[in-house]
Amino acid sequence: MEKKIPLIEKYRVERFDDIVGQDIAVQEVKNFFKTFPRQKALIFNGPVGTGKTSMAIALAHEYNYELFELNASDLRNRASLDEVLKPSLEQSSLFKKGKVILMDEADGITTTDRGGLPELIALLSKTHYPIIITANDIWHKKFSLLRQKCKIVNFKELSESDIKFILIKVLHAENKRISLETLTLIAKQSRGDVRAALNDLQSVLDIGEELFAQEISEREKQESIFNILKKLFQRPFDSNTIKLFDSTGMELDEVLLWVEENIPEAYQGEFIARAYDALSKADIFRGRIYRQQYWRFLVYENFFLSAGISASSKFKNITKFIQYKRPSRILKIFLANQKNQRKKAIVEKYARLCHVSKRKAMKESFLLPFILEQMDPKTKKSMDLEDKDEEFLQEKKAAIIVAAGLNQFR
Ligand SMILES: Nc1ncnc2c1ncn2[C@@H]1O[C@H](COP(=O)(O)OP(=O)(O)OP(=O)(O)O)[C@@H](O)[C@H]1O
Ligand SMILES: [Mg+2]
Repeated sequence: MEKKIPLIEKYRVERFDDIVGQDIAVQEVKNFFKTFPRQKALIFNGPVGTGKTSMAIALAHEYNYELFELNASDLRNRASLDEVLKPSLEQSSLFKKGKVILMDEADGITTTDRGGLPELIALLSKTHYPIIITANDIWHKKFSLLRQKCKIVNFKELSESDIKFILIKVLHAENKRISLETLTLIAKQSRGDVRAALNDLQSVLDIGEELFAQEISEREKQESIFNILKKLFQRPFDSNTIKLFDSTGMELDEVLLWVEENIPEAYQGEFIARAYDALSKADIFRGRIYRQQYWRFLVYENFFLSAGISASSKFKNITKFIQYKRPSRILKIFLANQKNQRKKAIVEKYARLCHVSKRKAMKESFLLPFILEQMDPKTKKSMDLEDKDEEFLQEKKAAIIVAAGLNQFR
């Protein structure tokens, strides 16, 4: 089997020409090198996945420089700094002209005591080599001194059509096709982040378009539920509280699982007990709805779940960061459903092949891993099993063998 390189590595930009949607930035980089050393350093500033690191790699290729990467801890280390200032190892060779220093992802460097920023600024006045600094937010106040000494090159979020262009190029190179609908979905989801787009494309190629679309709609639901939980647990109770769940596409029962999981994350002490009390009341009405089909009880389930939970705590702080969790129970149900659908699909193929009813095929399904193993390859091929089907069958077989083995010992 061929080894799998992630798309973001396999198709990493290597030349200026490969960089999409950053024409102004490319031009500014070229100008900088024309006039170097008028200014010593460039800052590549912009959102994630827009080509900052790639631009550094590309310019090293284009100008035949050795790319010397520096990290924050190097700045605190004399020996590393001397190494940076020393002539390039390869400089004496015929192959490289010199070096360019890359301080990638500078956002994290500190200003205090033996921080890194003062050292970085000192380095600017000592170096003979161009320095590239990349950051997501260079306008943070701690960088004000650094900003004055560098030329800032802004990278922008890529447009939807730029992202599509990149994805189509990759698909072409991979000799793969996907629907326009999925292509658009990926481009929209990426919000101008090429890395995110390529990673999503990877998932589509791995799990298929249908499952991918399902996963995105899960992701969207989650994004909104996180906001709703924040309002529920952290905003003071008011007349809007009972309308909180109206905007989600999620069933109230699923909301209940999210609330259940997150009460202990958000509340403390006796307020946890009060919140669970409200939750249990919501759950009583949920049970009555199911047993008696009294749908008008939804009003009460909603009331206890929103107002009840919100009013359980007196301490509300909307600015506090709380890491809300995804309920573990849903995930298990979801996985079980996936498996079930896979099994159904295989059984259908088998039923068609043998001209038996699906019901009968389902009854014999526990034998399928063994039947298919004995089947002659041509017949089996006509069943059109997917890789994931095969994987599922292997798993089942292993489980059956283990179970049989255990029985022998009983
Ligand atoms: N403008 C672009 N044109 C073509 N490919 C791009 C572009 N921007 C990013 N990519 C691709 O996306 C991936 C990530 O890019 P890169 O690492 O350069 O992003 P970055 O801006 O440095 O992000 P971060 O801020 O997270 O470090 C790479 O595979 C790269 O080839
Ligand atoms: Mg980067």
